[in-house]
Amino acid sequence: MPETVEIFEMGPRDGLQNEKRLIPAAEKIALVDLLSTAGFRRIEVTSFVSPKWVPQMGDAAEVMAGITRRPGVSYAVLTPNMKGYEGAKAARASEVAIFASASEGFSKANLNATIAESLERFAPVAEAAQADGIPVRGYISVVTDCPFDGPTPPANVARVAAALRELGCYEVSLGDTIGQGRPETIDAMLSAVLNELPPERLAGHYHDTAGRALENIDASLARGLRVFDAAVGGLGGCPYAPGAKGNVATEAVAAHLAAVGHATGLDMEVIERAAAMARAMREDEDV
Ligand code: HMG
Ligand code: MG
Repeated sequence: MPETVEIFEMGPRDGLQNEKRLIPAAEKIALVDLLSTAGFRRIEVTSFVSPKWVPQMGDAAEVMAGITRRPGVSYAVLTPNMKGYEGAKAARASEVAIFASASEGFSKANLNATIAESLERFAPVAEAAQADGIPVRGYISVVTDCPFDGPTPPANVARVAAALRELGCYEVSLGDTIGQGRPETIDAMLSAVLNELPPERLAGHYHDTAGRALENIDASLARGLRVFDAAVGGLGGCPYAPGAKGNVATEAVAAHLAAVGHATGLDMEVIERAAAMARAMREDEDV
């Protein structure tokens, strides 16, 4: 039996958050509903963030209300603060995610806060979610390279990972936000983070800007990671990270994992249809 590796589908959130055309909620709902039939255990649907900061996610409540939930699938959303958490709870999110940065420059750009301030804001979110029985995932951005502060020291990533562990995150996803990581820098970063969390509580979230995401996944597999974030059609990027275009494509990760002997449990025919749907959403913008 091949060992299973999970792909956490990011398309509707990380894939679409950066698109300029305001994609109608109905299109997002159709994408999530199709993805729900592909075999994912977890799908990130949307973000309860300030619509002034990320207008594309301004329809979070409408999207969450419109999707058809499939048993066994966790529908995740981003929650930067208590206002976001309250929205997520009202929308019956299956899990929420808090998202920190390993660099001060990116923290300011993405959250208008220092790393310490952002962690203070996350504390009540994590506490409320635990009281409500809602699992909390953590993200760390710019784990190898920051568009503002340059190379990220691995010790800084480890420090934030420890803080997210203390807040009760069941898993920490490590974001190469601008896709500048290389197998060596990913390995050095993981070596530091693994002092704080075991590999089964870590995920790789690698953007493919420089075309190295699959190599970075291989470096992470070698360190024992078995969860990777990806977006169908390779869409997306972070609106506050210049040059962050392109999550690694789910279909590319699934094919690569199969080639190196891992099962993902995904229905590739559905994935291809979802990738085409996601790409068409972007192509509409270019017309
Ligand atoms: P701020 O401007 O400092 O916040 O932004 P504020 O508290 O002063 O509020 C400003 C306005 O936003 C107020 O409205 C609030 O009510 C409203 P006004 O009174 O002016 O009308 N507001 C909200 N509205 C809805 N939902 C909320 C919310 N919070 C405040 N939750 C804030 C601070 C954190 C809100 C802002 O910086 C923000 O929303 N940032 C999110 C940015 C974002 O979503 N980035 C992309 C996701 S992260 C990512 O992509 C990286 C990742 O993929 C991993 C990787 O690749 O590295 C995860
Ligand atoms: Mg991302």
